[in-house]
Amino acid sequence: MSQQHVTLASETDWPGFRNEARRLLTRLTPPDEVAWHSRVGAAEDLFASDDESAAAAPRNGGTHASSMNLVVPASFLTLCETVILHNDPDRFGLLYRLLWRLVHEPGLRRDPLDADRVRAQHMAQAVRRDMHKMKAFVRFRTLDAESEGGPLHVAWFEPDHHIVEAVAPFFVRRFTQMRWAILTPERSIRWDGEKLEIGPGASRDQAPPADAGESLWLTYYRHIFNPARLKLSMMQKEMPRKYWHNLPEAELISPLSMEASERQARMIEAPATVPRRRIPVRAEADLAEETFMRTSAPSSQHTSLPSHPADPRQPSTEFRLPDDPVEALAMLGKLTDRCRECPIGEHATQSVFGEGPVGASIMVVGEQPGDQEDLQGRPFVGPAGKLFDRAVAELGWSRDRLYVSNAVKHFKFELRGKRRMHKTPGQREVAACLHWLESEIEQVKPTALIALGATAARALLGRPVAVMRERGQWHTDAQGRQVLVTLHPSALLRADPAGHEQNYAQWLEDLSLASKHLKR
Ligand code: URA
Repeated sequence: MSQQHVTLASETDWPGFRNEARRLLTRLTPPDEVAWHSRVGAAEDLFASDDESAAAAPRNGGTHASSMNLVVPASFLTLCETVILHNDPDRFGLLYRLLWRLVHEPGLRRDPLDADRVRAQHMAQAVRRDMHKMKAFVRFRTLDAESEGGPLHVAWFEPDHHIVEAVAPFFVRRFTQMRWAILTPERSIRWDGEKLEIGPGASRDQAPPADAGESLWLTYYRHIFNPARLKLSMMQKEMPRKYWHNLPEAELISPLSMEASERQARMIEAPATVPRRRIPVRAEADLAEETFMRTSAPSSQHTSLPSHPADPRQPSTEFRLPDDPVEALAMLGKLTDRCRECPIGEHATQSVFGEGPVGASIMVVGEQPGDQEDLQGRPFVGPAGKLFDRAVAELGWSRDRLYVSNAVKHFKFELRGKRRMHKTPGQREVAACLHWLESEIEQVKPTALIALGATAARALLGRPVAVMRERGQWHTDAQGRQVLVTLHPSALLRADPAGHEQNYAQWLEDLSLASKHLKR
């Protein structure tokens, strides 16, 4: 049996594989007569120089199976695109065998337990997992902060599979405004704000050392570390040890876990404290652990960041915000950007923190940033923001004098084709974000709050709010603050156009109740 050697242009040459597989299939070349190579592997492969012209000779004395039905399920093509990124040198052989069998064994499509199919599925899963890990565990460090084009952010990562180019679009979308490079042993990718360049691999020592932003992140991580929630096996499953050497926070895991049981015992023995977060009764059981960690009496200059008040040995100055509220808000904004207390942050472009003057008498709270806000990093700048601005103008207010924020700091969306469609944040996500909002309120010290829509109203009042019933009224929150509830501008935009005039007028009327709080 003569072997046909097929050499693909690269480890991830999907178009090349597809063309070659189609050609071999139409020539009726069985899988066990094909040896697959890719350019990188071929250089070291003793057999790679064999005469490839054999591949050109059709089998069966020159018969081409050109009339063969080569239609395969679309899901198979998707599977191939993923499996090709696996590092197993046999992957091309496996995929060609599956293709051959799909064409020659019609029953294969109905046999999900077939060994080849199962193996390919496992490989696809490993690739997807590796892609997920790269998205989650790449940590940029800043270089050239003074350079003309702005700082360059560089990260080092060691993927298991050939995934770098496939993941690159994610980083381009996510960090469009930044200049960055991700170095890996096999490939480097670099984004200058306009175009993506793909280059050869690099070594770890070419990546920069820790930077100042990292020490801030470490302090924060130390603070949110919750001994009551520590499940080392789960944690290592989600964040396997092999990634630790690239993660700044990993250096804290061992010492913090060693202290965990002691700290947990102290927390259990400590007297109960007044819950700071106002968690809706129904969600209480679900959120019990988070609530436990977020219990502390308010203190003027501490953040509402999760703290360990029950631990008498935790110095209360461990995580102090700057005394100046403007600086404190700036720091909080930076910290939200790195917040991963819920999964939304991983997919958003950046966090969107509130904006407006410290001491603003009115704080307006929406739900979460939308698509435009996510891209621009500012609240209420998209279509809902435009409607809000119109109302502000018609009420004779000035947006510059309002503090405008959201209950959730990252954009949650689902993809429909290329469009990012808004998705309402879940209660857990709102609850995870609440301490940021509380910290903002503490710094801004408004005399009144306006909740736009149900998510904001529930976050502020700590209970489900029937907006249509409770709108246009002042409510008092657990801290005695005044909260005016009204509709979210998006609800007006979504409503039946026939009712626009009337809805808008009624909305203005609701909002106008807050005019008395505006400082003249
Ligand atoms: N919707 C919100 O709730 N907030 C924004 O910032 C934008 C749209």
